[in-house]
Amino acid sequence: MNKKLLYLLLEATLVFPFFPARAQEGPIQNISARENLGLDGNWHYMVDPYLTGQSSRYYRNVRPGSKSDFVEYDFGASPSLEVPGDWNSQDPKLLYYEGMVWYQRDFKWHPRSGRRYFLHFGSVNYEAKVYLNGKMLGSHRGGFTPFQFEVTGRLNDGDNFIVVSVDNTRRKEFVPTLNYDWWNYGGITGDVNLVEMPETFIADYEVQLARGDTSLISGRVRLNGPRPSGPVQISIPAAGIRIRALAGADGNARFTDPVRGLELWSPAHPRLYRVQIMSAGDTVEDEIGFRTITARGRELLLNGKPIFLRGVCLHDENPLIPGRPRSGADERMLLGWAKSMDCNFIRLAHYPHNESEARIADQMGLLLWEEVPVYWDIDWTSDSTLESAEDQLGDLIGRDKNRASVIIWSIGNETPSIPPRDTFMAKLADLAHRLDPTRMVSAALLVHDQGNHTIAVDDPLGDLVDVVSFNEYYGWYVGGISDIGKYRFRIPYDKPALISEFGAGALGGYHADSLTRWSEEYQETFYREQLRMIGGISGLSGTCPWVLVDFRSPKRLNPEFQNGWNRKGLFTSTGQKKKAFFLMQAFYEQMEARHPDP
Ligand code: GCU
Repeated sequence: MNKKLLYLLLEATLVFPFFPARAQEGPIQNISARENLGLDGNWHYMVDPYLTGQSSRYYRNVRPGSKSDFVEYDFGASPSLEVPGDWNSQDPKLLYYEGMVWYQRDFKWHPRSGRRYFLHFGSVNYEAKVYLNGKMLGSHRGGFTPFQFEVTGRLNDGDNFIVVSVDNTRRKEFVPTLNYDWWNYGGITGDVNLVEMPETFIADYEVQLARGDTSLISGRVRLNGPRPSGPVQISIPAAGIRIRALAGADGNARFTDPVRGLELWSPAHPRLYRVQIMSAGDTVEDEIGFRTITARGRELLLNGKPIFLRGVCLHDENPLIPGRPRSGADERMLLGWAKSMDCNFIRLAHYPHNESEARIADQMGLLLWEEVPVYWDIDWTSDSTLESAEDQLGDLIGRDKNRASVIIWSIGNETPSIPPRDTFMAKLADLAHRLDPTRMVSAALLVHDQGNHTIAVDDPLGDLVDVVSFNEYYGWYVGGISDIGKYRFRIPYDKPALISEFGAGALGGYHADSLTRWSEEYQETFYREQLRMIGGISGLSGTCPWVLVDFRSPKRLNPEFQNGWNRKGLFTSTGQKKKAFFLMQAFYEQMEARHPDP
């Protein structure tokens, strides 16, 4: 059984007073608000396709003492990679590289008594083994979520060094598995921080409105340390709110308090409050927006009022500076492109994006769908695969549960409805609902062509999610443009429904008639017909064209039109708007006029 479930079961049975030990805890909440030594920047690296470094113990970072010494590696004399960042886009020799790379950097630190220290990674794709001063701290699998190791008592007073081996080899039992339509960017792709904490500190907190109730704040604070019990206080000075609670022997303090006068967060009014969480020996501040997301039949309600999600899908990739985004500026640019199309919603496909993205969406007033990479046909019968999916889902929810922008947790994309998958996904849906009862759970489902242009959304997973979302590519993968208008959709659920993908490819700047594939005119006509057909589907709560901007994929090999890029972007890989962009923009402006944001 994995750590998340163990913790929940112990919590659920409320036996904590007798079991002070807990399942391993998740990463520290809101790491950027903490006293830390940033370890981003240049790290030395060595490419190790034959895994030599394990037997040669590169982690010891031995340097030749004299000219006669035999040492077959030398980090200090090796080249450097930028951290955070993937290796594929930083060294042309590594564009397609899948395998192991060793990273190393020195740093100075003077640890203080009575303080605790953690080495925190924002994300590493895919498997990391971390060593400090020549000793192993631990390993982590999963390419997109944070993890940490406590290093109290293991830091030298002065010179220290870290070695990290990263292996992005795709494996059948991993999540994602061997086959997926995006670039396998390997490396230390998230920030690295050495964090200094009080002996007993605020490890985690959740401060949100109760589900569907704008007059009730509920949440939890978790303390970690030798004195985990005691008073905690949550204050929101600008709203004159002060909540007191008591942490028990397990370090958990839960609270549910009536509140008045909070300005609710929404796309039209992205109001964030400075929230202060205090315990006897620690204080941490965060910027939190308060809103509710619920359903009433087929309507999606934000703060109790119907909202139509004017969405678009987005990979975590900046086409202008190839590779994973390196800073908030990259993300602000991409989210700004979506806003220019009059979007109020972004589907962050198909894996957790950088932690800063949800914070920027909070500020910009964009709603988010966040997703774990349970993508296509993974290894449904493997326990380790299920554990990895649950850990990634738990760590994503743990990381972003205080972000007003996040309204939907997605447990997967286009997974086949076969018995082992149905069992696997039922467990994921249940975990998401138990970890976060305040948000919606969804998944991008495959549709079922019943013939006579009747398309049913009847995947059994639709019974377990709160928002029924489905992908359809009629007029691109199935049939041509003239067929689009013939399709009718049967969506037999009394719950909000969302088209989570539809799209067609076009090479920016390639112009021809509307029947010529890969021309901007074909894509534009595809969108015109699709939007006409979508307009006829009653009860939709949103749409998400696939995809905001062209992105790299090794599966897209048409040498004239793709050349290693998926060309379904409404923006080109050089940031230019394709003709179809303007159709989507006009459609969303009409939708906003008919369904103004609450
Ligand atoms: C699929 C899948 C995407 C993929 C897209 C495409 O539906 O969800 O990840 O990129 O279609 O074929 O372009």
